[in-house]
Amino acid sequence: MRALLFLAILTFVISCKEQPKKAEETLTMSAEALAEQREQMMVTYCYQCHNPKTDRESMLAPPMIGIKKHYISDSTTKEVFVADLQAWMKGPSEEKSKMPHALEKFGLMSHQVYPDSVIVGIAEYLYDNEIEKPEWYQQHHKEMHGSGKGMGAGHKKGQKKGGQ
Ligand code: HEC
Repeated sequence: MRALLFLAILTFVISCKEQPKKAEETLTMSAEALAEQREQMMVTYCYQCHNPKTDRESMLAPPMIGIKKHYISDSTTKEVFVADLQAWMKGPSEEKSKMPHALEKFGLMSHQVYPDSVIVGIAEYLYDNEIEKPEWYQQHHKEMHGSGKGMGAGHKKGQKKGGQ
């Protein structure tokens, strides 16, 4: 009887210990699933024009990695980036543009209407994750910004992260 009680207590203790781990695992899994879902939204809604797989001459818009580099510096918080992207998506305009060269090359982005939740999701995904880079991007980046000396904080951060 005593052994049974001991076993019961032991099982209880073990199951208590295991619970937080299980909860954590579920959390990580759902974070991954969420990231996947958001990536899919970006591919569906933005990659028609911002696709990193398109070759350089056929691009209709700058790749997302370029957008990240121009919108996010070391001091840019997620909140600020999300707000900036929302502002842009609500009404692209020359005054709001942070990428004058892209504007000149591709013409102003046409107004795309998406629910706020989609834009916030895509913005958070962009902020938190490494984004696929076109093969030609390294060369373009050098042409536009030089060899790396004297570049802004945002570029340095991007380089570290992207392992360039
Ligand atoms: C129909 C084509 C098209 C689609 C779809 C599109 N864009 Fe764009 N986007 C453009 C073009 C062209 C530019 C470059 C000209 C400019 O900056 O306005 C651009 C530029 C941008 C910029 C930089 C703006 C600046 O000048 O500072 C951001 C940010 C952006 N797009 C976000 C998005 C997001 C997020 C999506 C998907 C939800 C998206 N775009 C979908 C065509 C598109």
